[in-house]
Amino acid sequence: MTHKAAIIGGGVIGGGWAARFLLNGWDVRVFDPDPDAKRKIGEVLDNARRSLPGLSDVMLPDEGRLSFHDTMSEVVQGAVWIQESVPERLELKRKTYQAFQAHCREDAIIASSTSGFKPSELQGCATRPGQIVVAHPFNPVYLLPLVELVTTGVNDAPLIERARALISSLGMYPLHLSKEIDAHIADRFLEAVWREALWLVKDGIATTQEIDDAIRYGFGIRWAQMGLFETYRVAGGEAGMKHFIEQFGPALKWPWTKLMDVPELTEELVQTIADQSDAQSGAHTIRELERTRDNNLVAMMRALKAQDSAAGALLNAQDAARIEGTVLAARADEIDDPSKPIITVQRAVPLDWTDYNGHMTEARYLHAFCSATDRFMQLIGCDAEYVASGGSFFTAETHVRHLQEVHAGARIEIRTRVLGGQGKKMHLWHEMFSGEDLLATGEHMLIHVSLETRRPSPPGAKVGANLARIGGAQAALGRPEGAGRSVGAPR
Ligand SMILES: NC(=O)c1ccc[n+]([C@@H]2O[C@H](COP(=O)([O-])OP(=O)(O)OC[C@H]3O[C@@H](n4cnc5c(N)ncnc54)[C@H](O)[C@@H]3O)[C@@H](O)[C@H]2O)c1
Repeated sequence: MTHKAAIIGGGVIGGGWAARFLLNGWDVRVFDPDPDAKRKIGEVLDNARRSLPGLSDVMLPDEGRLSFHDTMSEVVQGAVWIQESVPERLELKRKTYQAFQAHCREDAIIASSTSGFKPSELQGCATRPGQIVVAHPFNPVYLLPLVELVTTGVNDAPLIERARALISSLGMYPLHLSKEIDAHIADRFLEAVWREALWLVKDGIATTQEIDDAIRYGFGIRWAQMGLFETYRVAGGEAGMKHFIEQFGPALKWPWTKLMDVPELTEELVQTIADQSDAQSGAHTIRELERTRDNNLVAMMRALKAQDSAAGALLNAQDAARIEGTVLAARADEIDDPSKPIITVQRAVPLDWTDYNGHMTEARYLHAFCSATDRFMQLIGCDAEYVASGGSFFTAETHVRHLQEVHAGARIEIRTRVLGGQGKKMHLWHEMFSGEDLLATGEHMLIHVSLETRRPSPPGAKVGANLARIGGAQAALGRPEGAGRSVGAPR
């Protein structure tokens, strides 16, 4: 049965949550009094559809159903997770819980997106305070994994465990705070940086552009991969963390930072910041800036995936968990019907696979077909253990046909056939589909080699037998249209 989430308040953050749940297969019910909410959520969803699915190298579940409701009592019906993202006013948030708590499931988790309030403040006058927790996300909620989960003594352990598991199942990272505190962890940190930035503008020392440059050309890149303390540990060199603190700690007492002082947000200062920001970024619409941000975030997180580091390591672990139970987890002897083409790839096209023409760039077709070949090799027993024992296949020749355009976020499936699998040769034929539309074909000749001599050699008995068995079973499929063609040959 599909899980249901209720989203109360569908602005920047509520819209992001709606997309996160929907694209992970949940049905999503939204309540927001703004008549424009449908359009705004639609736009967030468009951005999410092109960026989130391709973060994963495994297909996400089918999208859930989105519905809009006129009352809070109706929107919470059947929901096991209720995400409140109304404006940051304590009284409004408390009133909201009072309006729907009598109508929601008693075992539903009510999570607030609040950036600053402590859960004990939100639980204050609620009917069932034990249902309410803070789940503080980061914008864009559909891409950034962090959720600060903040609870109090009235939340029981099983509910907290359910909340953690559920956040993880959405591809996010629940950071459970051991103590509640105003503004949690991350926003306290961001506020300190923000205060300093306001002073630098107010004192005429730096413009908004110069401050952004100081972040994005330097420490901003470092922070995404190692955070603060690990970065400083490395900066301390071989002498280590203690040395680093001894060296730079005293500077904290020098007038480097204004820290607790907040510049008064006079009309003049606000106007200066707005004007500088317009000069810096006013040539682009917010939607354009969002797309630039999303493109960059996806590219960075996918780069971290390749290093199995930071948020990339989290994404890899999630992919590994997702693959369990799919056809891609099977081994050769588990293939239902080897006489049919075998599914070797099921995934969405990542944003960083597209180019200036707005579609998947040609090299990525080959990338996808290589993944299909790798998967097929594993299926027949040419896995990491086999390769470590000294045998593998090397590709000798490839012919890719690009038949239709494919865009970021599109769900693709590759079905693989063996056209020849005798002796040292493995002749594969991949077909890439979106639904039943054929997008591309890839024909590859591989030769089995000894990794010791780097010369052709016969495959091991199990690998050879599996390959021959599948090749034999698929022989009746006949030769596919387009196989053996060369560039420019008449159709
Ligand atoms: N913007 C951020 O970067 C960010 C990040 C993390 C958390 N948050 C938190 O998320 C919450 C929402 O912030 P936002 O930035 O999405 O604000 P927003 O102004 O974009 O959205 C608020 C939405 O709530 C709706 N709303 C107003 N009254 C309502 C009511 N009574 N019932 C239901 N909906 C109502 C509004 O129509 C609007 O669509 C706040 O608590 C904020 O602290 C914001």
